[in-house]
Amino acid sequence: MNSKLKIGVLGSGKGSNYQAIQEAINAGKLQAETRIVLSDVEDSGILKLARGYGVSAMHVPPGKFMTRLEPEIEEKVAQILKFKSVELLVLAGFMRILKQPLLDAYPRRIINIHPSLLPKYPGIEAWKQALEAGEKKTGCTVHYVDAGMDSGEIIAQSEVPINRGDTPKSLHARIQEAEHKLYPEVIAMIAAEVPSDR
Ligand code: GRF
Repeated sequence: MNSKLKIGVLGSGKGSNYQAIQEAINAGKLQAETRIVLSDVEDSGILKLARGYGVSAMHVPPGKFMTRLEPEIEEKVAQILKFKSVELLVLAGFMRILKQPLLDAYPRRIINIHPSLLPKYPGIEAWKQALEAGEKKTGCTVHYVDAGMDSGEIIAQSEVPINRGDTPKSLHARIQEAEHKLYPEVIAMIAAEVPSDR
């Protein structure tokens, strides 16, 4: 019997959150197993990282839309994840909105991390939005994914101060540090809730 939570990871960028998750798994701090890492960006850092860890990595050409995957492609992604026995889909910097094929295949089993204290500042460059609004604090949020943009039920948040003299870059770096701690912790919490005799 294998009680490790089987995760799939979907990302578009450098993959620092995936790296934090994989390091926690490799250090034995997170009872999970990455079954596959998928990306819509062929030369993304996240795919390179996965290959470096010896984890199955796959590029998924997104099709003709800018903000989502083509439905047939999303359906194929769902099939690949099921084939790989993925139980939880982890979005880590995935820059497209998910639609029904994946949402229906993984109800309440898709999570995302967003660089603000949602519901404040959904959308892109959330750290810049918080800085420009003159906030004294911001942070990051892990939430379930629904059909909206950064709108699903919140699971956990971590606060980060905004210091005088912060630039978008310095603030984003501080938020990312918090993300790298929070995301593996939340996945560990979900892993602990899943029955081991499933
Ligand atoms: C993170 O800041 C996350 O909050 C947002 O996209 C970024 C991904 O960064 N959803 P990385 O690719 O994990 O480094």
